[in-house]
Amino acid sequence: AHTRFYDFQLGYLNVTRLNKTKTIVAVNGQFPGPAVYANEGDRLVIKVTSNVKENISIHWHGVLQLLSNWADGTAYISQCPLGFGETFTHRFRVTGQTGTILWHAHITWLRATLYGPLIIHPQDNQPYPWDPQPVSSIPILVGEWWTQDTEEIERTALRTGGAPTKSDAITINGMPGPLYNHSADDVFRVKVTHGKTYYLRVINAALEIAVFFAVANHSLTVVELDASYVKPFTVNTIMLTPGQTADVLLHANQSSGQFYMAASAYSVVQYDLQQYPRIAGTGILQYELADDRGLTPNILGMVPTLPNLPGYNDSAYSDSFLAKIKSYNNSMYKVEQVPLVINQEFFFTVGYALEPNNSCPPLKVCKGYLHQRFSTAVNNISFQNPTNISLLEAFYFNKSISESFKGFPDTPVHKFNYTGPEDQLGNKAPVHSTKVSVLNFNDHVQLVLQDISILNFTIHPFHLHGHNFYVVGWGYGNYDSLLDPPYFNLEDPPLRNTAGVPSGGWLAIRFRANNPGVWLLHCHFEMHLSWGMEMAFVVKNGVGVNQTLPPPPHDMPRCKKQKPKRHH
Ligand code: C2O
Ligand code: CU
Repeated sequence: AHTRFYDFQLGYLNVTRLNKTKTIVAVNGQFPGPAVYANEGDRLVIKVTSNVKENISIHWHGVLQLLSNWADGTAYISQCPLGFGETFTHRFRVTGQTGTILWHAHITWLRATLYGPLIIHPQDNQPYPWDPQPVSSIPILVGEWWTQDTEEIERTALRTGGAPTKSDAITINGMPGPLYNHSADDVFRVKVTHGKTYYLRVINAALEIAVFFAVANHSLTVVELDASYVKPFTVNTIMLTPGQTADVLLHANQSSGQFYMAASAYSVVQYDLQQYPRIAGTGILQYELADDRGLTPNILGMVPTLPNLPGYNDSAYSDSFLAKIKSYNNSMYKVEQVPLVINQEFFFTVGYALEPNNSCPPLKVCKGYLHQRFSTAVNNISFQNPTNISLLEAFYFNKSISESFKGFPDTPVHKFNYTGPEDQLGNKAPVHSTKVSVLNFNDHVQLVLQDISILNFTIHPFHLHGHNFYVVGWGYGNYDSLLDPPYFNLEDPPLRNTAGVPSGGWLAIRFRANNPGVWLLHCHFEMHLSWGMEMAFVVKNGVGVNQTLPPPPHDMPRCKKQKPKRHH
């Protein structure tokens, strides 16, 4: 194993897209940010220095961070954010996983443009467990671009109680592609050679949309999802929620020409769809010029072929894609086994909530919903970040406040027909607080997340820090603790770090709490997170050094006086 050093300098960068220029925060002057590479088992030492006025932290999404919670980079959870001129060095090993994940800012809406790939190759460059071995890999970061400042969009939404402005374009590696106005030259292009196999490392780094992704005239063989091997399967289109990643093999079997790769929004939200970007973000796969077999050279300027993508609301396609995912659940692949016996069971409702809009004068219809403002909650608790300490520090040093953080409810406080008619607003007024659920080391946890179909019909892509989890079941309607578990897949369920709670349905996951620390569980739609759709698990130390979180590094940033931007 090696130690790999990276230097991340955070600074401002002017970027022009859709004919408008704005200033974003970028790493080393690059947008999207630089790729981080490692072999499984390597140590990463990533020095992050802030030269910007915004409070900031960088998170390594999907890294298991075994015994390295201090390096997780979650603002107010694992660390206080970095201020101007400050440096924090993230030190962690990448073990027990290979494939593609991502890094992104983990505070406010900065991750809209502050993200990059994190790629883990097999240990000692061993071959992949399939054939043919890919010749080279192509990172594909799907993102969203707003011509406005995204920090301002979040602030405005929180202030008014309304929904945030939708993005202006879907991007591939930061480029909208030629289907958008003023974007003919803002297109990601990659050259391929006939007969070779490529490893497409597709990352959904978008803030607010799940995406369908396809490449015209090429099928995609999915071999890894969220940096876990899956039993390979071949499809024309993959679906990724924000925070999900896919490693797919593309066999360059066309003889020549140009082909669009395209990412389009997948949404089950019906009523405000016009506001979603309806145009696909595209890039171009271009075959190298004629080879020795005398094939026709590619004619530049020829219009590339577009892939046939499912419709924006094709949840039947999305469901059938998800049903194809099977893991190996096999020690050969170094992964945790599926926990068969459970000693901790949780049932959390997740979804929208409403609260009085004090900024809305009487008799006036304001942003939000009638006279109320949007909020989100887990078990009716809308999460509030601590402001003057990180939760991890509070627990590690056993500060008295750590007591007041305990007591996240195991089941909903309000019970109602979660997927019934909209007038059963059992979760109407959420409680704003910072509550965590405490787990013992090695607890075998089952967690059912139940969507409450209030106000909106959308999936909620839930992400857990510090652990991968098995998706043992999901379905529509209300979860039934007697009728549903017999149908759980405990043989080869998908192993992921992010999974969508179906709209009007439920998701059952299992994991082993084998990593001491404080770990967020949250929706990866950014506005849902801003509104409070998150909670944290505290995993206690076990026995011995291999089960104990080491002390914090000495360069941990301190919390500043100012409060994080919450509307309470
Ligand atoms: Cu990708 Cu808590 O984040
Ligand atoms: Cu959500």
